[in-house]
Formats: sequence, C-alpha cells, structure tokens
Amino acid sequence: MRRKTTAFYSLTVAAVLLFSACSVFAGTHNDETAAPITEPPLDTSAPTEAKTEKHTEPTAETTAEKQTEEAATRRETPSSVPVTQSPYPSGVEIDKGTTSKGFKITEKDGITYIDGIMIANKTYSVPSTYNPGRLAADCQAAFNEMKQSAAEDGCELYISSGFRSYTLQKSLYERYCARDGKAAADRYSARPGNSEHQTGYAIDLNTITYSFADTTEGKWVAANCYKYGFILRYPEDKESITGYRYEPWHIRYVGISLATDIYNSGLCLEEYFGITSRYE
Ligand code: DAL
Ligand code: ZN
Repeated sequence: MRRKTTAFYSLTVAAVLLFSACSVFAGTHNDETAAPITEPPLDTSAPTEAKTEKHTEPTAETTAEKQTEEAATRRETPSSVPVTQSPYPSGVEIDKGTTSKGFKITEKDGITYIDGIMIANKTYSVPSTYNPGRLAADCQAAFNEMKQSAAEDGCELYISSGFRSYTLQKSLYERYCARDGKAAADRYSARPGNSEHQTGYAIDLNTITYSFADTTEGKWVAANCYKYGFILRYPEDKESITGYRYEPWHIRYVGISLATDIYNSGLCLEEYFGITSRYE
C-alpha cells in the first residue's frame, strides 16, 4: 500500500513537472514581462522579396500580444528610464530657425516641432520621460472616424500598435538587434527615444506584414487616409530619406490640411519639410 502511494506521488510530481516544461516551451504570452514583437519578421531579404510574405489574419495571439504591450505600458515607472535633462525651463518654446524648405523649427521640453508638428525620427528624438500613455486625442478621434468610413466601404481597420513608451520601444529594439543584428534592426525599428510611436501620433494598422499593402484594407488606407489627417509615413523607395524600409501599415497623424498637401506632393514627411533622418 505504502509502495503504491509513493508510486502515485512520484507519477503526480512527474506530470506536474512535464506540464510546466511544456508551458514554458509553448510560449510566453501569459508572461507579462515579455514584450511583443510588433514588427515584421524581417531579415536580410530585400523589401521586394519581403513583400511576397503571406497575409496573416489577426489571431488570438495578436490580441494576447497587444494586451501584453498594454500591460507593459501600465507597469512602467518614471524611475525605470534615464532622464533627459533639458537645459531650458519647462514649457518654454525655443526658436531653432527654419528647415531647408523654410519651415519653422521650434523646441519645447526637449521635443522638436516643425511647423507645429511633433517630430520623431533618426535625427530628432523625444525625451525618455515623455510618456502620454496613449494616442493623442486628435489622432484617436481621426482614427475612429476613418475606421467607420472604411467599414462603410467594407474594410475592417484596427490598431495593432499605437502609443509605445520609451521602455517598450527599448525592449522591442533590443529584441530585434539580438535577432537580426543592429544594422538590420536599424532599417525597420527605431532606437528607444527615436520612435514615432512614442509621440502618440503613429499607428500600426492591422497585420504588420508587407502583404497588408495588397489587401483591400491596405489599398483603402493608401488611397484615403489623408482625408482623415494621416500619411503613410514610410513609403516605398524612400528608405534613404526616412531612414526606414517601406511600412504600408504605419500611418502618422498630421491633420487633414498637411496630410492632403503631403499626399498630393508625393513626398515623404522629411522631403516635404526639408529635414534629415540620420543617427549621428
Ligand atoms: N518601425 C518604426 C520605424 C518604429 O520602430 O518606430
Ligand atoms: Zn509603426
């Protein structure tokens, strides 16, 4: 009897251990410390090759990743990031001259604005402490309106990645560097401090894959997003100017008037304003 009980006990312990091991190998979606991968599985393949990737439908996994991202954002504390000291008193607007195309450059609280538009690219960063925690109200409202119009045309738009904190961007960027190397990662992921997602004015739509451009939704967005104040921020064939490979899913809110001008110009934001996007 005693031998039977011991055998039963040993079997139970073994089963528990096996189950735990399987859970670890099955993934980290319930692990709130794991940041989600929100960029495409890029490697050294050329953009045209990457464009042929299969379209993947949103899955429960995508939702789990989004929830993990939100959880990661909630968990942050200001003390967890390096503080960027501004030499100027808070709230003071500093005149920094004009761009090569004559647009006014100002700086306030360590953030650069061109013609009043908040800028984050490889040249201009936002302070690590800048953390509005969500999309800007005007950007969110414009997205809601665009989503409704798209739905009336039979297109379903949803946000895969919106606002990202410094901490989340750092975690994503480091993960991509570990996976693909720094040079490759710099072509599709911003360094912490340099991501437009940190401004609260950028949105990654639907599936973050190159094939999004070929979907009904992707085509609708490319043709119509300017009417709601958004631009395709990283257009095809502009990597040498924006600093990033083509991202058909990444839109940036700049307001209807500017978005319409940029759309009609065929220029990317850097070309239109006459600014650079380069790490020094
Ligand atoms: N994928 C864009 C460039 C970002 O990381 O902000
Ligand atoms: Zn993006």
